[in-house]
Amino acid sequence: MTEIVRLENVSKEYALGEHRVHALKNVSFSVDAGVVLAIAGPSGSGKSTLLNLIGLIDVATSGRVVVDGHDISGRTPDELAEMRRRTIGFIFQTFNLFPVLTAKENVEFPLLQRHALTKQERSRRASVALEAVGLTAVARHRPNQLSGGQRQRVAIARALACGPKIVLADEPTANLDHKTGEGILELMKEINRKLHTTFVFSTHDQKVLDFADHYVGMEDGELRFLGLRKDNQWLISDDRRRADRRKGDRRRTVRSADEAPGVRAPEQ
Ligand SMILES: Nc1ncnc2c1ncn2[C@@H]1O[C@H](COP(=O)(O)OP(=O)(O)OP(=O)(O)O)[C@@H](O)[C@H]1O
Ligand SMILES: [Mg+2]
Repeated sequence: MTEIVRLENVSKEYALGEHRVHALKNVSFSVDAGVVLAIAGPSGSGKSTLLNLIGLIDVATSGRVVVDGHDISGRTPDELAEMRRRTIGFIFQTFNLFPVLTAKENVEFPLLQRHALTKQERSRRASVALEAVGLTAVARHRPNQLSGGQRQRVAIARALACGPKIVLADEPTANLDHKTGEGILELMKEINRKLHTTFVFSTHDQKVLDFADHYVGMEDGELRFLGLRKDNQWLISDDRRRADRRKGDRRRTVRSADEAPGVRAPEQ
């Protein structure tokens, strides 16, 4: 499998008044192309920070981030934006759709930056993406004429329209009821199987973890667990070589990182 993302000893600090917040501390792992990866952990553990670094929205304070074979350190904002356009689709918790545009126009919007595309080609791509998420019938609706689940599907279509290698989703189900949220994750899995797009989503909800086949567990800015789901069971390697002994935790099985292919701890 090809590696699509690699983080090496990545730290991220934010200045907050006189204090410095250590949002990520020395995080290292790599992700193979074509997996569905969940980044899980409690509020404030660094999930969004991690997604923003992988999504080239933000840069690390130290360490190396490699996305699709490109080391992104020292790149200018313009270079990052160009790489992001070519490689990344982003889905936000709050959908971030333009209220005055129809569903289809929202999907077409990022394609406007692709100057090589004709109007017809933009329209065709938007239609294909809307069809992939089952929204052809409401293509002309504006966001306020759509349900929450439909809005999130428009956001997925918009992310897919550019043909990204990686789709990143920050808590994509947080604003949806449980059933609708499951439908959204099911849809991502289906697209993953069909198009082999790599999906990385963050969540603090244990229940939605099982929609992923790999798992990165964050706590307090540190990577704590790497996991692989096999035969409906999670094989978890504790990055600190400490078993997770919380009572009733079904992620107790501890294996070496070698048994969690797809997402790996880097070779030391
Ligand atoms: N722009 C910022 N300036 C200062 N501190 C920040 C900034 N962004 C994030 N942080 C801090 O970094 C830490 C990690 O934040 P992050 O948003 O990555 O957490 P999270 O796991 O996504 O949490 P949540 O589940 O609540 O979304 C937190 O302590 C947060 O307060
Ligand atoms: Mg967050």
